[in-house]
Amino acid sequence: MSKTPHLTPQQIVAELDHYIIGQKAAKRSVAIALRNRWRRMNADPSIREEIVPNNILMIGPTGVGKTEIARRLAKLAMAPFIKVEASKFTEVGYVGRDVESMVRDLTEYGITMVKSEMQERVKTKALENAQERILDILIPPINTKGLGFQSSRTNSNADSSIATNHSATESLHSATTHSDEELNQRTRERFREKLLAGELDDRKIEVEVKKSSSPTMQVFGPGGMEEMGINLQEMLGNLSGKAKTSKRKMSVAEARELLIDEEAEKLINHDEAIQEALERVQKQGIIFIDEIDKIAVSSSGGAKGGPDVSRQGVQRDLLPIVEGSTVNTKYGLVKTDHILFIGSGAFHVAKPSDLIPELQGRFPIRVELNSLNEEDFYSILSEPKNALTKQYEAMLGAEGITISYTDEAIRELARIAAEVNLQVENIGARRLHTVMSSLFDELLFAVPDDIKEGEITIDKHYVSQQLESLVKDKDLSQYIL
Ligand SMILES: Nc1ncnc2c1ncn2[C@@H]1O[C@H](COP(=O)(O)OP(=O)(O)OP(=O)(O)O)[C@@H](O)[C@H]1O
Ligand SMILES: [Mg+2]
Repeated sequence: MSKTPHLTPQQIVAELDHYIIGQKAAKRSVAIALRNRWRRMNADPSIREEIVPNNILMIGPTGVGKTEIARRLAKLAMAPFIKVEASKFTEVGYVGRDVESMVRDLTEYGITMVKSEMQERVKTKALENAQERILDILIPPINTKGLGFQSSRTNSNADSSIATNHSATESLHSATTHSDEELNQRTRERFREKLLAGELDDRKIEVEVKKSSSPTMQVFGPGGMEEMGINLQEMLGNLSGKAKTSKRKMSVAEARELLIDEEAEKLINHDEAIQEALERVQKQGIIFIDEIDKIAVSSSGGAKGGPDVSRQGVQRDLLPIVEGSTVNTKYGLVKTDHILFIGSGAFHVAKPSDLIPELQGRFPIRVELNSLNEEDFYSILSEPKNALTKQYEAMLGAEGITISYTDEAIRELARIAAEVNLQVENIGARRLHTVMSSLFDELLFAVPDDIKEGEITIDKHYVSQQLESLVKDKDLSQYIL
């Protein structure tokens, strides 16, 4: 089983608080939903299967944290998570890109997730194996069963530069008291030490690398074609032979990274990974359906045209998946009964009640997210672990520049963001991104060419200087801020 941290609802909210300002109701709902999965798994088995997740509908204007909450939640839960745009299933040309593909994508994600966890666990062993392989290339082992020649693995890497530069190898020629084998062993030992110490990292070697197994070909098409695409790909993969390799020159350091991955891949049990992933997807998977309001059909709209039919079609397709059905993926069947679905949308035009009733019923929890004001912006700029101010600080820190902000400066940035939202268009906290990038534009260009090292304090004056003209000129701010 996975090692999901069993956070309580309040702990979950506390964790989310590190990243998301305000939106208490939404955080509370997702925290409960997440904890409910643990509750279900630990409930009496006789009723466990009956407990279905309470899917959530997040309603709120753009840029107020809907996606961010879901994303953070999935991270916290270490759960397979994907985000899809509902509107993409209504694109012209197909009556919905096969809606089931979202479950396949989630499964794919689950597999990657579990595999990389497993690879992480075998990392030490994989590193050892990788080092040995590099050693084999540097000092090809002697083939004792053969005629005393070096093994068939002999290759151009056992180049003369190694032999002449290193006394260990020189003794290969002089020492007669030792068997070749012993000598080879000793040389390897010395090289192993050097290798471990990273002394050989820059040396170039030739490595046999696996070519990515399947050709990068995808077949897109409506509906069932997707399944066919997968099979076709597998078929082609098999046709072209699995063990395709090619030789590439690279540094030892590079080779190490590459071979660790290859060795780790070999060390993990793939069937186990698939089983674990399928289980995790079915029990803990989260699918975030963005722009769900775009597939609702506004009741106020008069005549119903093609798009509306298509939208309703998507809702109908969505229904069985959200209600619980079995989807065929290339790794096996995936039951969607216990996957948590979080729908999200602004619902400016259409209302949740414009969704078909069955679908409304599958999203029983409604939470509204508030639009953000100047005060919120101030907090968003200063509090979250990943606050934009800290991101820019870190970026310039990498250049040897220490950035600090006065409190007044941050207040001014918040004020400007709020003002532009009011005057141009309310895009929520996304406005902070554009404001901050304009603020730093000049500095980011000047470093390190004109400004090398030092400390820079961003104060209110600097903020005004960089942004005031943009804010004042409405035409300009429409394009830039
Ligand atoms: N309440 C918040 N606290 C901290 N950061 C926020 C908050 N709301 C939004 N942000 C930041 O603003 C950006 C956009 O937020 P997000 O993607 O969650 O918007 P959204 O509500 O999903 O909007 P849309 O409806 O357009 O998809 C993200 O970078 C996010 O970090
Ligand atoms: Mg979003």
